[in-house]
Amino acid sequence: MTANSPLTRATATTATSPWALARRAERMNPSVIGEILKITERPGIISLAGGLPSPDSFPVEAMREATARVLRDAPREALQYAASEGIAPLREWVAAHLAEQGMPVDASQVLITTGSQQGLDLVGKVLIDAGSGIAVEAPTYLGALQAFAPYEPEVVTLPCDDDGPLPESLGIAKGARFLYVLPNFQNPSGRCMSEARRAALADARRNTLRLSFVTVAAAEIECGVAILAQALRAAT
Ligand SMILES: Cc1ncc(COP(=O)(O)O)c(C=O)c1O
Repeated sequence: MTANSPLTRATATTATSPWALARRAERMNPSVIGEILKITERPGIISLAGGLPSPDSFPVEAMREATARVLRDAPREALQYAASEGIAPLREWVAAHLAEQGMPVDASQVLITTGSQQGLDLVGKVLIDAGSGIAVEAPTYLGALQAFAPYEPEVVTLPCDDDGPLPESLGIAKGARFLYVLPNFQNPSGRCMSEARRAALADARRNTLRLSFVTVAAAEIECGVAILAQALRAAT
């Protein structure tokens, strides 16, 4: 890595700030992913480093029509402040859609976020105290580690094989506030966890750790980002 590489620049910024920054800001360095994405904006660069979807797959026409319809039919509601949890009809639609897929939830349990990254930040905010254990796969999604870092967790890395975390390894995460796993199209490996491994992990947490699962980002599967982040909260 050169002195001026994106990774070096990303970690240098807080040290050179003229402001008296909060202690947690030391853990909020510019996103390495963001730095990588900046490079992709340069003409002629085709980057395989960031997970960029093909622009050809963007539903431009559908977005144009939807935006025009909303501004035509409900302009005041669309531009007015709304409940922080998200507009009620959308929350109801998400709840109904999840129920169809065997995940029965009430609309009151649905929170609309600006992407899954905000969901990860909210999980960190409500589940992590300074020094709390959290368990992750190895490797795991870099953006999740960045979202959790300001809350000062102790990160426990679970041994993994090609099918994901080894269920028998969950014991090393005893007392962890949650386990962050990506069963579908894991980032960065791309692997999908087999049904057998999912079941074994669920059993391991029940039999060994007595932890309860909290699904925090099921909507990500819907968006085609194909991620399921699951939080395990210690019952003991
Ligand atoms: C595993 C994982 N979680 C979260 C995100 C961020 O998603 P969003 O753009 O919805 O914030 C990504 C983006 O690549 C991801 O791969």
